Amino acid sequence: MMNDSKIGIFEEVREFPDPSAARRFASLVGLDGMKDRLLKEARLLLDPDSLLAWSTKHHHQRIRLVEFFRDRPPLFIFAGDVGTGKTALAETFGDAVAREGDLRVTLYSLSLNARGTGAVGEMTSLLSAAFTEVKHAAKKSAGQSGKHHSGVILLIDEADALAQSRELAQMHHEDRAGVNALIRGVDDLATSNLPAIVVMCTNRLDSLDPAVRRRAAVTFTFNRPNDEQRHALLQPVLEEVGFNAQQIRTVVAATGPAPGRAYGYTYSDLAQRLLPGLLLQAYPAHAVSFKMAQEVINSHPPTPPFMERTA
Ligand SMILES: Nc1ncnc2c1ncn2[C@@H]1O[C@H](COP(=O)(O)OP(=O)(O)O)[C@@H](O)[C@H]1O
Ligand SMILES: [Mg+2]
Repeated sequence: MMNDSKIGIFEEVREFPDPSAARRFASLVGLDGMKDRLLKEARLLLDPDSLLAWSTKHHHQRIRLVEFFRDRPPLFIFAGDVGTGKTALAETFGDAVAREGDLRVTLYSLSLNARGTGAVGEMTSLLSAAFTEVKHAAKKSAGQSGKHHSGVILLIDEADALAQSRELAQMHHEDRAGVNALIRGVDDLATSNLPAIVVMCTNRLDSLDPAVRRRAAVTFTFNRPNDEQRHALLQPVLEEVGFNAQQIRTVVAATGPAPGRAYGYTYSDLAQRLLPGLLLQAYPAHAVSFKMAQEVINSHPPTPPFMERTA
């Protein structure tokens, strides 16, 4: 439930570096390209000194290109199907940025879904309060000896609960107020040049307000794992319990798209349902076997894709 105290604004406030976040970040497979891009972008926003140092080193001055880069709103959108790692990456990349840049990074997380989609006006004031708090924290970071040694990340998870398209016919007046609060907050951070990043996660990019989408410096698209990515996740786990290469390939294939089913397993289907299900099948009396894996696959079908709203 929401209350007026500062604690009530965020689900969680987390400080990086933090070893458990590092482990979780490292355990996310198949996202290497996205991780690299995200870390680079985030580092430059949270540690602008490193950008100036680069400019001076390679061009002997502060080049104009730097301004174009920095004028972008510090907004990243993570979009994609449920269970594809958006929240897991958003909650942990701050740790990697902190380690690379030798910074202290604080993550403020807000999940709009947890608040219920009914009370939209409540979400509007919640968002305004969150941006105020994050700006305040970022200012404190920036104030230290004129050099940024710390930065903040605001995670707005399950953002489709709020940032629905203004074009939707059934949109209430209050929904627009929420979107406007979001846009104001992002623009305010952009112009104040503070070491802050906003990450918005959504299952339905289409439903995000165009004005919000346009502001994103980068939109990262998350997908269900392909054969290679499922293999990367499953191989070390299954090999350890005695599966041979052929059996692992069979499990990888069986968790992909199949005749009559255009979609395969999500990362969370594999990591949070299938593999734990396999352990439960064996525990306590047996060792894990290939036959059990086949039974568990049959009894744990993949989550159907998130349905786009039907007009
Ligand atoms: N790329 C990945 N590699 C390994 N496990 C993953 C990956 N993505 C997601 N998972 C697992 O699935 C869980 C749910 O993912 P989550 O980030 O909540 O999905 P989303 O926010 O996209 O719905 C994670 O906590 C993690 O256990
Ligand atoms: Mg999520």
